Amino acid sequence: MNEAGIELVRIAEFAWSRIEPSRDQFDWQWLDDAVTTLHNAGLKIIMCTPTACPPRWLVDEMPDILPVDSEGRVRGFGSRRHYRFASNAYRREAQRISAAVIDRYAAHEAVVGWQTDNEFGCHDTVTSYADDDRAAFQQWLQTAYGTVDALNSDWGNVFWSQEYQRFDQIDTPNLTVTEPNPAHQFAWRCFASDQVSRFNAQQVELIRNSAGADRWITHNFMGNSTDFDHFPLGHDLDVATWDSYPLGFLDQGWASDREKQRYRRIGHPDWAAFHHDLYHAVGRGRFGVMEQQPGPVNWAPSNAEPLDSAPAFWGMEAIAHGAELVSYFRFQQMPQAQEQMHAALRLSDGSASPAFASVQHLAQSIRSLPDHERKQAQVALLFDYRSCWASDIQHHAAHMGTLEHAIDAYSAGRSLGLDIDIIGQDADLNGYKLLIIPGTVFVSERLISAASTAGVKLLALARSGSRNTSFSLPDNLAPGALQSLLPVRVVAVDSIREGSLHKATALGAEWEIRYWRERIDSPIEPIGQCDDGTGFWYRHQGHHYLNARLDAQQLAVVMQQICRESSIAVLPMPEGLRRRCRGNLVFLFNFSPEPVRWTEGHAQRIQGNEELKTGEWAVWLSESHND
Ligand code: GAL
Repeated sequence: MNEAGIELVRIAEFAWSRIEPSRDQFDWQWLDDAVTTLHNAGLKIIMCTPTACPPRWLVDEMPDILPVDSEGRVRGFGSRRHYRFASNAYRREAQRISAAVIDRYAAHEAVVGWQTDNEFGCHDTVTSYADDDRAAFQQWLQTAYGTVDALNSDWGNVFWSQEYQRFDQIDTPNLTVTEPNPAHQFAWRCFASDQVSRFNAQQVELIRNSAGADRWITHNFMGNSTDFDHFPLGHDLDVATWDSYPLGFLDQGWASDREKQRYRRIGHPDWAAFHHDLYHAVGRGRFGVMEQQPGPVNWAPSNAEPLDSAPAFWGMEAIAHGAELVSYFRFQQMPQAQEQMHAALRLSDGSASPAFASVQHLAQSIRSLPDHERKQAQVALLFDYRSCWASDIQHHAAHMGTLEHAIDAYSAGRSLGLDIDIIGQDADLNGYKLLIIPGTVFVSERLISAASTAGVKLLALARSGSRNTSFSLPDNLAPGALQSLLPVRVVAVDSIREGSLHKATALGAEWEIRYWRERIDSPIEPIGQCDDGTGFWYRHQGHHYLNARLDAQQLAVVMQQICRESSIAVLPMPEGLRRRCRGNLVFLFNFSPEPVRWTEGHAQRIQGNEELKTGEWAVWLSESHND
């Protein structure tokens, strides 16, 4: 590890069966030895609570802790994450084992940080449909609504005679004849999300009350993960970390076939960057990568071998966005069990894998970088987990998911060389010039009035503000609260099947509108029009509403126009080249399969070359911060 340049090691996240082989029989020797070995080598430790894997003896004692899927089947022992967040019995057990690990290691000088559990929500584990979950949901509803009449009215239960007389009649929203009431589904998602936050908060409290109260606390979140609201959970942590597997997610995700082919061995140019910026927001300015892909993974439909330079390239990209740590999963390949085909920094025989040298190179490169802090960008993009649930619950058309829409808008901005901060609904908007609302279903009045007070211009994409928080259509119709700045009302939605399109014109060019178009009633004239005379792009006092689903390339054209109006400098990038500033440092990353040349005006090049091959980066030092 020293030879690789590693300074920090995360351990014991799945080690419950070795720490406590049977109830109350603890075996600390092996873990003490590991901690001592690392400490003696000058390495710092991130210790974990091992609650993602309850051991077999515990499941035998308490089979009710196992989750139940939406078909009513128990999800059994034999992999991981086999517990229900709402199980009181499991919460007590999780607290008991966490307290034992914390008591033992909190004060150890090598332990500098803690990770709670491991990847909350992985393998579709946020929700569980056991009887006990239903009872906990009913209680949660009672607290949220007070009276069943309030709930009936909020959910519109008069429809289809869905009215309840008592909270204990309300089931979990599965196994209904046709789709359950969307408000019911939405409340269920809110309830499930709260259970995750509460589970995490209880572990955090143990650490904060321990002899190691001054150590930082993190959780390793995931990519493309929206099943629970990360913002409240992140609020209880000191640092948000996430697990970055660019090739696995490219292959598994919604990128076009062309992009999957083009970026097969280096990943999509915006996918990891989007998550760095998202977790920067979740961690309130402090984030890192807890698991960085080192080589082929074992879980995507096809598992490409990254370019040899990729592990370092991805790590440096995280650093460019302000990451405090980049950790690789895992150190040595495990020759057995589920992840025997998952690469590591060392092969299963202990020799170096191709990633080892790349990580060494990264460590040296990081050490030679001057210290510069990430600064606030001029452009912000709103991200709202609850809106993701809403767009899942009523997707209404393909490609209208909030996450996909947000990543496309982010990509568009990045292709113009912009740095983009991702923000939550409660963010302070001062200092931003433009806020992108990427089809965010719930848009609060607070946010709109904050934008107005701070003089921030808006670019709102189709579907923004289309529900209120009780999952009904807004009284003033979509885009709801946005209407105070953008006088448009959505009076019909056309969801366009794959293969069909509307031809349109704007800015003197021809456009094609796919997937989604809204019919707008407005006193303002559109600046983009479909062939049938309806508008697809409206502007009012510098704010923009796009009532059609545009792809990243089309959005880039729209954003270029808006940036011109709002005096935001853009630097259109060659395809696959990305630029990110960190204070006075300007980082360039080439994802494109072709070499790209790039110079940064009068700045001084301190790493890399002017010509960047695929998977190479350069760093330039400019005299002033210039994003
Ligand atoms: C993460 C997880 C790791 C490992 C890795 C494989 O989901 O936290 O334990 O399974 O993925 O890529």
